[in-house]
Amino acid sequence: MGNNSIKKTLIVAFALCIVCSVIVSTAAVALRPQQQFNQELDRKANIIQVAKLGGSGKSVEDVFNERISARVVDMQTGEYTDEFDPETFDQFEAATDPATGRTLSGRNDLAGLSQVENYATVYLIDDPEDPSQIVLPIRGQGLWGLMSGFLSVKGDGNTIVSITYYDMSETPGLGAEVNNSRWQALWDGKEIYAEGDDSLSPAIHLSKSASGENEVDALSGATLTSNGVTNMLQFWLSSEGFGKYLAKFRSGVSQDDAQNAGAERESEGA
Ligand SMILES: Cc1cc2nc3c(=O)[nH]c(=O)nc-3n(C[C@H](O)[C@H](O)[C@H](O)COP(=O)(O)O)c2cc1C
Repeated sequence: MGNNSIKKTLIVAFALCIVCSVIVSTAAVALRPQQQFNQELDRKANIIQVAKLGGSGKSVEDVFNERISARVVDMQTGEYTDEFDPETFDQFEAATDPATGRTLSGRNDLAGLSQVENYATVYLIDDPEDPSQIVLPIRGQGLWGLMSGFLSVKGDGNTIVSITYYDMSETPGLGAEVNNSRWQALWDGKEIYAEGDDSLSPAIHLSKSASGENEVDALSGATLTSNGVTNMLQFWLSSEGFGKYLAKFRSGVSQDDAQNAGAERESEGA
């Protein structure tokens, strides 16, 4: 068979395709654990960034292990649950499972999610019984798609520390300015709920002319992304999201106090 024969050309092309596809699939399978590890590391780095715990020179793993504990919250009661392991609990999967999530529609679906989980992993900074900060996962629709990130709140359950997005498809220079450190700095010290308002309705929002404790400057030229940020915060910080959980910190009752009080009441009643 000559080198220029059609048969030989086809055999060589076919063999090359097989060899390449084996190499690509082997690489994909072999690299999956590394990809998962890197995703996990990126999530931890984002949590450290939003809680402003970086800059100590320590590795992400060290800061995370020393200062951060993860707990799963039942958002419908505002209490922690031991039903799920925070290490393995996947909120995104929980949203689509009828046993752990629910369907949203109309005015209840401010963040544009359609389906939302009833449980969420929160990250507690320093003392888990009396955290200096609580990092909450947030997500919702921006202009071009889903934006997923974290909001860090002080231990008073009301004062914001920072916000960050680890996954979004907004336009660089416009909506993607949500991750500009100068804009992120505007959130420091802003308050989620209006002063004197004990309800679960958040007041925090973006505004073109921000003033006061509950307003942050909207992104210029990106009104639609800004509206998305306001809507997702209004959703996640209300009774649909972390409202009941944060209320415990706002009233100054730590989770342990509340659980001890409950246990005492039960033992008195017994
Ligand atoms: C290519 C392109 C990309 C855009 N990306 C965004 C974006 O990421 N976020 C956003 O809110 N608006 C984006 N806009 C602008 C919106 O279409 C709209 O004009 C803008 O949100 C209005 O904001 P303004 O009232 O602050 O000017 C984009 C527009 C174009 C043409």
